[in-house]
Amino acid sequence: MNYLLGIDVGTSGTKTVLFDDAGNTITSATSEYPLHQPHIGWAEQDPHDWWNAVVDTIARVIKTSGVNPSDIKGVGLTGQMHGMVLLDESGNVLRSSIIWCDQRTQAECDQITELVGRERLFEITANPALTGFTASKVMWVKNHQPDIFKQIDKILLPKDYIRYKLTGVFATEVSDASGTQFLDVPNRRWSEELLDRLGFSMDWMPEVYESHEISGTVSAEAARLTGLKEGTPVAGGGGDQAAGAVGNGIIQPGVISSTIGTSGVVFASMDEVKMDPLGRTQTFCHAIPNTWHVMGVTQGAGLSLQWLRNNFGGMEKELAVFMGIDPYVLMDKQAEKAEPGCNGLIYLPYLMGERAPHLDPYARGVFFGLTAKHDRCDMIRAVMEGVAYSLRDCLEIIRDMQVPVQEVRASGGGGRSPLWRQMQADIFQTPIAVINSKEGPAMGAALLAGVGAGIYKDVKEACDRAIQVVSVQDPIKENIPVYEKFYEVYKSLYPALKDLYRKLL
Ligand code: XUL
Repeated sequence: MNYLLGIDVGTSGTKTVLFDDAGNTITSATSEYPLHQPHIGWAEQDPHDWWNAVVDTIARVIKTSGVNPSDIKGVGLTGQMHGMVLLDESGNVLRSSIIWCDQRTQAECDQITELVGRERLFEITANPALTGFTASKVMWVKNHQPDIFKQIDKILLPKDYIRYKLTGVFATEVSDASGTQFLDVPNRRWSEELLDRLGFSMDWMPEVYESHEISGTVSAEAARLTGLKEGTPVAGGGGDQAAGAVGNGIIQPGVISSTIGTSGVVFASMDEVKMDPLGRTQTFCHAIPNTWHVMGVTQGAGLSLQWLRNNFGGMEKELAVFMGIDPYVLMDKQAEKAEPGCNGLIYLPYLMGERAPHLDPYARGVFFGLTAKHDRCDMIRAVMEGVAYSLRDCLEIIRDMQVPVQEVRASGGGGRSPLWRQMQADIFQTPIAVINSKEGPAMGAALLAGVGAGIYKDVKEACDRAIQVVSVQDPIKENIPVYEKFYEVYKSLYPALKDLYRKLL
C-alpha cells in the first residue's frame, strides 16, 4: 500500500495527517503553539515552535499508524501563508516570524505602493500592497530593525522553513510565493524588477516550483528526528488556501469553497488571471500549472467564535469537558435557540482589522443593535451570522468579477457546524455542499505530493479518486428575506464607522 503525508503548519498548531492513496485518513496528530501579540494588531510566532510541532506530530503519526516509513511515498507541505521567516547566512532564524494576521505595516504598504506605483504593482503581483503580505513585513524590518535587515540571507514562508529543516533545501512553490508580493503572478516567477524597486535582493529568494513538483528529499538528520525514511520526496505543496482548495476539489471554474478557519475565505479557481480592480480580493497562482485563483479573505471568522468561546464561553467549556464533546457543539445548540437575524443584533467580525471587502487594518469588531431582550444565544448566533455576512461580501466581489459560481463547498472547522452551513446557504442563497474529507489543506498537500511522486497522473485524477460530495443543504426560503434585510444594514455599518475607528488609535 502507498501512503502520503500532509503537514499543515497552521496558526494555532501543526496538524500532520497520514493518508492512503485513495485519500482515506489513516491517522493524524496535532501539536499547538502560542501566538504572541506584543501590541494590538501585532502577531508573531517562533519558527522553532513550528519545527518542534512538526517533528512531534510526524513521529506520533508514524508510531500510531504502524505504517512502514518506506511505504510513505511523498510528503506535502502546507500552512499559514505570508509569514516572514528571516535566516542569516548560517541558516539561523534572525527574529520571530511576523505572521499573516499582523497589521502593523500600513506605512510600509504606502511606501511599497509609492516605490512601485499602484498600477505596476497590480500588473506584476495581481494585488495591491497589503499589511498581511510578506513584502510589507520585510520593509518594516528594514525601517525598524536595520541591524537584523543587514543580516538577511534568505526569506522563507512558514511551510518553506519546515521544508528547509526537513530537506536542507531553500524552496517554495507558486501558490504560497504569490502571497509574498515578490512574485510575478501572471508569469509564475520572482519579479526582479519589483525586488530592485524595493531594494531587496534576488539572492534572498528560494527556488520556486510548481506545487506538485518534488523540491527535495528528507535528510538523514530529519529522518533521525521524525522517523521518516531518508530520501522520501517532499513536494512543493501549497499555501493553506490553495492546498485546502485541492483538498476540497476546487480545481476548475464553477465549484467554489467557503472556508471558516481562523480566517474566512471564499475561493474560486480560474483558467486566466483576473483581478478585482479595487484589490478587495486576492489573485494568486493556484496549485495546478496554468491556473490561478481568486479569494476573498475575512480576517476574523473562526477567530470571532473562538474569541467569544474563550472570553464568554466558560459554561460551554466546562460542560463540554464533562460531556466529552467540543464546546462549539454546545455553542451551536445555544445559537439554534435564537431567531435567524437575531432580532436585529448584528456583529461585525473585524477583530484583526479586515481584508475583504474593506482593506482596513484599523477596523474593529462591533455588536450593533443590542437590546435588553437579547441574550447569550443571540450573541453567539449574531457572531456566526456576522461571519457569514462577511463571507457573502467576499462572494459578491467574486460574482462581480464574472467568475462562475455553480456550487459552494463548505470547509474548515466552521464548515463542520450544520447551523453555520445553513446560515451560509440562506445568506449566500446557494446550496452548500459537504465533501467526504475534512482534512482540507493537509489532504491537498498530500495529494500534490502523490502527483509529484507519480501515484496520480495529475491533480484532477488525484481529486477524482479521493473526493466526493456527501451532502447538500439548500437555502430555507423563509430565512432569505430576513437575512437580506439585515445584510443591507450590515453593509452600511462599516462605511458609517470607518472614520471613527481611526479615533480609537
Ligand atoms: C490567506 C491567509 C490565511 C492564512 C492563515 O491569504 O492570510 O489563509 O494563510 O490561514
